Amino acid sequence: MLNELEKLHRACFPNKPWSAADFADLKKSGCDIIASQNGFIVWRVVADQAEIITIGVHPDARRGGIATAMLVLAETDAKKRGATKMFLEVADNNHPARAMYEHNGYKQINIRPKYYDGIDAILMEKIL
Ligand SMILES: CC(C)(COP(=O)(O)OP(=O)(O)OC[C@H]1O[C@@H](n2cnc3c(N)ncnc32)[C@H](O)[C@@H]1OP(=O)(O)O)[C@@H](O)C(=O)NCCC(=O)NCCS
Repeated sequence: MLNELEKLHRACFPNKPWSAADFADLKKSGCDIIASQNGFIVWRVVADQAEIITIGVHPDARRGGIATAMLVLAETDAKKRGATKMFLEVADNNHPARAMYEHNGYKQINIRPKYYDGIDAILMEKIL
């Protein structure tokens, strides 16, 4: 399963692919992962806060609601486990991802200047 995830991650993030070992480390560190043939999401719940670590949908399967469906699953799980807020960070120039998060009710709460190789990181939050 982790090898499939490695392939899918490379298709989603060709410039910064994660390995199967990276995903294994995330699981060991307490993150949760949902993966299907065309999409994956990684999130973490710590006490009353949760965080989307990453999300990706295969380029051939985008705009079909897969990311939204996976977000709902992660949010539902986080809420069930006591989280009241979901956070995430997204690069300022990642317009598809920012649009997808806004579509799902996330609001910008802060900016980390030049966080990703000179690109600002936008910190977003959703009350669960
Ligand atoms: C961001 C990403 C996960 C979105 O996945 P997706 O399955 O296509 O998203 P959804 O189909 O759930 O999109 C829901 C809504 O978000 C908005 N949206 C999604 N992609 C968009 C795009 N390229 N341009 C404009 N709006 C977009 C739309 O409002 C869309 O609803 P609509 O299709 O009915 O108009 C996908 O583009 C991806 O994998 N990108 C590369 C990896 C990445 O950048 N991940 C985020 C890292 S923080």
